Amino acid sequence: MSVHTEVKVVTTHVLSEMKHRGEKISMLTAYDFSMASLVDAAGIDVILVGDSASNVMAGHTTTLPITLDNMIYHAASVVRGSSRALIVVDLPFGTYQGNSKEALNSSIRIMKETGAHAVKLEGGSEVEESIIRILSAGIPVMGHLGLTPQSIHKFGTYVVRAKEEEEAEKLKKDAILLEELGCFAIVLEKIPATLAAEVAKSVRIPIIGIGAGNQVDGQVLVLHDMLGINQEFSPRFLRRYHNLAEEIKGAVRGYITDVKNVDFPNEREQY
Ligand code: KIV
Repeated sequence: MSVHTEVKVVTTHVLSEMKHRGEKISMLTAYDFSMASLVDAAGIDVILVGDSASNVMAGHTTTLPITLDNMIYHAASVVRGSSRALIVVDLPFGTYQGNSKEALNSSIRIMKETGAHAVKLEGGSEVEESIIRILSAGIPVMGHLGLTPQSIHKFGTYVVRAKEEEEAEKLKKDAILLEELGCFAIVLEKIPATLAAEVAKSVRIPIIGIGAGNQVDGQVLVLHDMLGINQEFSPRFLRRYHNLAEEIKGAVRGYITDVKNVDFPNEREQY
């Protein structure tokens, strides 16, 4: 029997065991109670309260504007909606870079005020001090390398990262560093599949890919993208499992028509 079906509650240890047994890890984002309840009930292993909330929930063009208070609000809602998945919360831009004390305080607020199980942050050696300090408080940390959206103004574009030798070498070193520091998993975003496969083989902690091929230990997608709610975003790596935007618009149009025609509410729908 798979680890996935056996466990009642997914922990960082369970994820490690899954990698060890070659069982793939499923991860999706969620930002609110209702969606988290559905995603958790469907049996997802990890829910990421991603700072992509800045895009899909708040309508910003980047992940930079979302605040720690915003993330805490989303994460607490997700925690109330789930009972099985491991819940990981993104540390938002400006709450951990260059100041390990602030990184620790931000992480403690997330853990205390939301009930989530771990934090995620972007970067390698640049954020080493912050990772050490967060881990010293017993807070599990997930890394994130490759395309790191909080650095979009440095990159200037969302194209595939680490295609060149120098960047690929730094990424490989960073992955090993994150493992040595004690991170329990790493997200690799939008990098060549061969590089991601190499990294997944070189470390014992799970590597979760998004646009990083299938030779890694698990996959993550943004819920609104894979459900087809957010239709503007269509990178090659995205598989849409539904066209919810059309279904929602169809339902709303039906409601509007019924209201205009005084067909809703009917006699059975009133007191
Ligand atoms: O914020 C987010 O949704 C993420 C995923 C894309 C990995 O970091």
